[in-house]
Formats: sequence, C-alpha cells, structure tokens
Amino acid sequence: MNEFTYTYPVKQYFGEKAAAKNLPAELEKVGKVVMLAYGGGSVKKTGIFDEMVSILQAAGKEIVEFSGIMSNPTYAKAQEGAALAKEKGVDFILAVGGGSVSDCCKIVAAQARYEQDIWEMEYTDHKIPAEHIPMGVVVTASGTGSEQNNGAVITNEEKMLKAPLWGAFADFAVLDPAYTLTVPMKQVISGAFDTLSHAMETYFGRPSEITISDEISEAVMRNVIRNMREVIADSESISARSELMWSSAMAENGILKIGKVTDFQGHMIEHQVGAYTDCNHGQGLAVIHPVLYRLIYKEDLKKFARFAVEVWKVDPTDKTEEEIALAGIEALADFIKEVNLPTTFADMGISLDADTRRKIAESTVITGGCCKKLTPQDIEKILEECR
Ligand code: NZQ
Ligand code: ZN
Repeated sequence: MNEFTYTYPVKQYFGEKAAAKNLPAELEKVGKVVMLAYGGGSVKKTGIFDEMVSILQAAGKEIVEFSGIMSNPTYAKAQEGAALAKEKGVDFILAVGGGSVSDCCKIVAAQARYEQDIWEMEYTDHKIPAEHIPMGVVVTASGTGSEQNNGAVITNEEKMLKAPLWGAFADFAVLDPAYTLTVPMKQVISGAFDTLSHAMETYFGRPSEITISDEISEAVMRNVIRNMREVIADSESISARSELMWSSAMAENGILKIGKVTDFQGHMIEHQVGAYTDCNHGQGLAVIHPVLYRLIYKEDLKKFARFAVEVWKVDPTDKTEEEIALAGIEALADFIKEVNLPTTFADMGISLDADTRRKIAESTVITGGCCKKLTPQDIEKILEECR
C-alpha cells in the first residue's frame, strides 16, 4: 500500500426525511442569503423544491434561485452561477439534484470567491482554489458520488473538453433514498453503473497487489451488482435504493482509494466522448469498459482473474489465469446487457466519424494509474470498437 493522508470533511445525513430532520440545524450555522440551485425542473415535479423552500423560509433565509443546471454541466453555466452568487451576496449554496447540480455548484462556490478565471487558475497556473462559498448537497439521484468530494466534471464548450476541476467540498450531504424513487429507471441504472465503474477504476489502479481498500471495493462492487438487479425487479425497493445510494457515496468518499493511485482511464475516454456528444455518463462507461478491459487485462492478469472470481463468481476450476480473467470481463459484458445498458455507441444514438474519433483520442487524458499506458492510437481503436 502507498503512503497516505486521509481526512474527510463531508458530514452525512442518511435516511428517509433526512432533509426535514437535519437541514434546520445546518442552516442555523450559515448566513442569510442562500442560493437554491437545481437542474432542469425534476425537483418541481417531485415536490422536493417546495420542501426546500419551506425549510429555507422557516429558517428565515432569503432565497436566490439558480436553476436550469443541465446534465454534463457547462463551464458557462458555472460562470453564470458564480456571477449571480457575487451579485446577490450569497452566503451559502444548497445544491439539490444529481451529480450535475452538485458538480456545477462546487465550481460556482469557488469561482464566486475569485476574480481570476478558475479554468485558467487550475490548468495554466496549476493552483487549486483555497476558498469557496460554503455549500451543502441534497442528493436526488445517486451514482456519481459527487456530493462526497471536491472534484467537478465540467464541459468547456469553447475548448471541447469535459474535464475535472477542483472546487468546493460540501459541508454536508443529505442522502434520502426516498428522493430517488422518481428517477427514471434508465438513469437509476446508468447512475449505479457509474458507481460500479468508480469502484473498478480504483480497484485496477496501482499498486495491483490486493489491499484492504481493494477488498472493500470488492464488497461495494458485489453490492452494486446485487442491488441493480434488485431495483430492476422491484423499482419501489427502498432497501435497494438505500444500498445504491450509500455504495455510490462509498465509491467516491476516498475510502476505496486509500493507498492507491486510481486508474480512471475509462472515465477519461468517456468524458471526452461526452465533450463531443453530450452523452449520458453511465451509459458511455457501459459501452467503453468491456472494450477497454479486453485491451488491457493481460497487463494485470492476476488482478483481473481475482476480479472474475471475487466479484463475478467465475468458477476457476480447470481454467488458466487468462481464461478466468477473460471470463470475468465477459461476465461484466453480459451484466451490461442483462440490465439493459447500451453496448455500442449506436445503441446510445451516437455516431462518431473517423475524424471525431481521432480528435477524441488525441484530447483524452492518459492516466498514470492504468495498468497499460494507452496511446491515442489505442484509444482510437477502442472508440472504433465501441461503434
Ligand atoms: O435536471 P433535472 O430536471 O433535475 O433531471 C435530472 C436529470 O435529467 C434527473 N433527476 C435527478 N433527480 C431526480 C431526477 N428525475 C426524477 N427524480 C429525481 N429525484 O436525472 C437526470 C440526470 O441527472 P444528472 O445529475 O445529470 O446525473 P448524474 O447524477 O449521473 O450526474 C452526471 C454528471 O456527473 C459527472 C458526470 O460526468 C456528469 O456530468 N460525474 C461527476 C463525478 C464527481 N464529481 O465525482 C464523478 C463521475 O464520474 C461523473 O463524471
Ligand atoms: Zn463516473
């Protein structure tokens, strides 16, 4: 295991009615002007918006609404939010939504404290913002685990990049599994697959030798697989929703990453596909993962074989290590089909011509944690196979 420092700043309020039970006390600690940030309007249909407004009003807060945060939030949207927060003198941001709302607000919170453009600060000056407007997240769709960390994935339309930016850590996350009951099943499954991907991308990081972090990862992966099946069988299952919500948090609260350099090569490819197509994140990952793993597994054969046995229950009897490893990847591919996730970009309604595939490959970040250091040509090949 590598050396590490672990500290964790996000307080978790998990359970049904968690917002009503815990927000009033949290709001007592913050200033009067609260930005209520949300997405395209699902919160209005579900009643969560009205609930937040009444909690904020009861706490005597002045509400500044910031709405219309889109899936795959853009840098322009984050800048719009930061300008609004500055103009209205926002003291606290309450982000209510899925990963997109949470990610956007992390950057709004940080950018509002700086005159310098945050993209320039991070990518040109290589500095991380040290200040931000305090914020809290009320999760309405789980999967990304965005509420657990200070990384945001933002689409910079001008630069044609979907890339990580560091912003605010939330002071707290409200995780009420009942809020997720209204999320369309397609999104529930793509969100849950995102969680599975986060665990896999950490598991196959370095060092490859099995660690306590990896053994916890295996438990998270098995849990996600089991509860994806459970939620498909019974969409009202609050127990499956609860497990998926906390697994999502577990995959991104840093615990699985302790002592490891993560891989996240699949994510880097998917993010650039997203920059060019605005596609759904979890679905993109489902298409990319089996193809990526078939290309790299030989570089980390022992770990892929263990993944097959521990996560997918592949019977190793009379099989070589390579056969076991491959059977695990095929079990992953079969599961993707079983839960009705797409297996090609065409299934997602995406068509990438050769020129676009080359541009995506050339702009994809190559990660240091992947067992095989990919080249842009490897990525082009992956994209071609994903068609
Ligand atoms: O926008 P509204 O109308 O709210 O609808 C949303 C959206 O259409 C809907 N939704 C959310 N809660 C709902 C609901 N519909 C009904 N009932 C509810 N309770 O769900 C749709 C998807 O929401 P979105 O937030 O876009 O999805 P997700 O949570 O999957 O977030 C995706 C974004 O997170 C990034 C992705 O790249 C993508 O941009 N990621 C962030 C990460 C992080 N910060 O740690 C890690 C991930 O790897 C990921 O890259
Ligand atoms: Zn993800």
